[in-house]
Order: sequence, then C-alpha cells, then structure tokens
Amino acid sequence: MSSWNGYDSDDDYLPAGQRGRGAQETSPRWPFRRSRTLALVGIVIVILVFYTSRGRHHSTTNDVDWSSFAYSQYATDSATVCNAVMVFEALHRLGSKAERVLLYPEEWDTTVESAWDRDSQLLNLATLKYKVKLHPIKLLAVNGEGRPGTFDKPQQTWDTSITKLLSFNLTDYDRVLHLDSDITLLHHLDELFLLPKAPIAMPRAYWWDASAGSPPLTSLLMLLEPNPQELANMLATLHAWSEQPDGGKRDKYDMDLLNARFGASALVLPHRPYAMLSAEFRTHEHSAYLGGPPDIAPWDPDRALAEAKLVHYSDWPLPKPWIMWPWQGLKEMQPDCGGSKEGTCRERVIWKDLYDDFRARRKDICKILSVPAPDWQWLKSGGGGNGTAQGHT
Ligand SMILES: *[C@@H]1O[C@H](CO)[C@@H](O)[C@H](O)[C@H]1NC(C)=O
Ligand SMILES: *[C@@H]1O[C@H](CO)[C@@H](O)[C@H](O)[C@H]1NC(C)=O
Repeated sequence: MSSWNGYDSDDDYLPAGQRGRGAQETSPRWPFRRSRTLALVGIVIVILVFYTSRGRHHSTTNDVDWSSFAYSQYATDSATVCNAVMVFEALHRLGSKAERVLLYPEEWDTTVESAWDRDSQLLNLATLKYKVKLHPIKLLAVNGEGRPGTFDKPQQTWDTSITKLLSFNLTDYDRVLHLDSDITLLHHLDELFLLPKAPIAMPRAYWWDASAGSPPLTSLLMLLEPNPQELANMLATLHAWSEQPDGGKRDKYDMDLLNARFGASALVLPHRPYAMLSAEFRTHEHSAYLGGPPDIAPWDPDRALAEAKLVHYSDWPLPKPWIMWPWQGLKEMQPDCGGSKEGTCRERVIWKDLYDDFRARRKDICKILSVPAPDWQWLKSGGGGNGTAQGHT
C-alpha cells in the first residue's frame, strides 16, 4: 500500500469483512488526520513548554526556604509584649510564610502563675497560636543593662529601644525583618526577604525636615543580615558616645547608631508603602510622603490607605493607641477636615478607624484594657516623652 502503511494499525482492529474497505476509506483521510495530529501535538508541546518555563520562573519564589527568614519583635514590658503579639497575630492572619521571633527579657517565664500573669499568658499565646519562637535576652539600655517593666510601671521604651539591635544576634536566620510594635500591619511584608542581598535595608524618615538633605534612615523597619560583629561594634560606639562630656544628655539612640553605621550604605526601601505615619492623615502637606508635588502625586486618603502596608502610630503629643485620648487633646489634634470642626471627612474617619481598630484588637487578642488618658497639658509639655518630636517612636 502507500508509504504510510506502517502506521495503518487501525486496520487490525476492523472486522475481517471490512478490512479492505476500511483501508480504502481511511486512506484518503489519513494524511489529513496525521497532519492534524501533528499540529495538535505541536500545540500541546508549545503549551507545555510555555507552562513549564513559566513554572520554572515562578519556582524562584516557590522554592524559597522561608525558614531562613524571620520577623522579629522585642518586648520590654506588658504593653510591648502585647503590641508584639498583635503584630504576630497580623502576620499569621495575613498569611506570612517567614518565621517569627520574639526577643523577651530573660527574667520572664512562661509559667502562668495566676489569672493576672498576663505576660506569661501572652508568651504562651504567641508560641501556641502564632507559631512564635521565644528568644530570651538581656535588655539593653543606653546606660548599660535595662530592667524589664511591669504593667504598672512600664519600661520607658525610648530608653530601651536599642534592644532592637539584638536582632543582629539572631544568627539562625539569613535575614531578619525587625518591625517596631507601635504599628498596624495592613499587608504582610514577605516580599522584602527576596530583595537583593544587603547588610541592611531601611526606609527614610520621610517626615523629617528634608531641607538639610536626605532624611535619615528610620529604624522603624529594618531588614538586616544578622551579624554579631555589627552588634558588638555598635554597642562599642554607643559606649564611646556615652563617655563624651555631655554624652548622657545627648540623645544617642538606636536610630543614631544605625545611621552612623549604615547611613551611607544601606539599601533604601521606599517609605511608601512600607512606612506611613498615622499623622499623614492630619497634615495638609503630603509631598514628602508622596514623593512629589500635587501635580505629580495628588493626595487621596483612601488610595493612600489602600496602598500602605504598615502604618506607624505617631501623633505626638497624643499618646500611643494603647493609651486613651484626653478629650481635649483629641479635639485639638484630630484631622481638621479643612478647618471644619463640625463635619467629617475621609481623613478623620480613616485616622480614627486606625486607632479604634488597634484598641479593638488589643482587647480581643491581649485581653487588656487601654491605659486611662493622661492629662493633656502634661502630655503637651513633653510629659509622655518626646519621641515623635525627634522623628522617632
Ligand atoms: C549574642 O548571642 C550570643 C550567643 O548566644 C550571646 O553570648 C551574647 O551575649 C549575645 N549578645 C548580646 C549583646 O546579648
Ligand atoms: C518636648 O518637646 C516640647 C516641644 O518641642 C518641649 O516644649 C518640651 O520641653 C520637651 N520636653 C522634654 C521633656 O524634652
């Protein structure tokens, strides 16, 4: 028969009487069927190649060893351990894949001694529910070792904020993302772990007066490669500073140390969407945050909120969200809606929602009530600490 005879195996399956006829009938169709089959095979191959190459491309993120990355938080007292657990709850809820580490005072334990032993309860909640690894530490303070605070006598976080540097000691990980805990996380930040290698990556404190040059880096968010030598060097620098004549009075804290060491070499992260201040909703001047004048970057409060991944509570002299607002302070400080004290506007709604949301989650997760509102005049005179005035806490 014809050249394609070798492939004519169909014939074998035809009933005896129909064989010849079948062969004759199929013969004119075969070249056509074959080319159609070949075309189909070709299409399938093209599709397969397309998908496997796409798959291989994807696998750069799918094959990531997430156990080599961790978010870190530190606790110095009952307020900060709750804040830290709230951040871990958010990471858990938002589907973050990296590990979670809590640095906590070695003086604490996880034995719940009574129904009021909230610190131990929160440590247990963190490990059991939010898969947090506990890492006991000696608290660091500017003038030597710090002592953990209690619920009644909170630790001045300003003073122990250099404790965050201990994230450089988490050598079990290739990369650690330290976040301050007076924040709300609106998205997880896992994608940061996949950035090009760099000893540290931080955003700029965009809210600083930039007329003197680029704002410094903010330690609100630090993506670092653990390195005990960096830690030792920075502690030595801190010690040297405190030896200077007015060293004790000069404010030299974690942010100064980090800028002194990495100011010129850090990988700079975009502060938008990684580091927004709640105060952004109170200001009329958004060009620093948006990175340009209104014709380039118009302000839209809903769009700003939708894209933000991390909002830092910072509305000095109003207190942090776990402390209630003095009524007069709220009236003076809330977003002014273009001067109309009566009506409302998106800025005011969003700003208040950010605080309400924090307080509701704190009650839900930590089962502790807000601290009563301090006196407004006392707060205004700097009684609550001058963190934000220095572009920090
Ligand atoms: C860093 O970790 C090492 C090993 O666990 C420990 O000996 C050292 O005290 C830690 N450094 C600080 C400053 O806590
Ligand atoms: C805090 O800052 C305010 C305003 O800048 C200032 O008047 C006050 O004296 C400062 N207080 C402290 C304790 O530094």
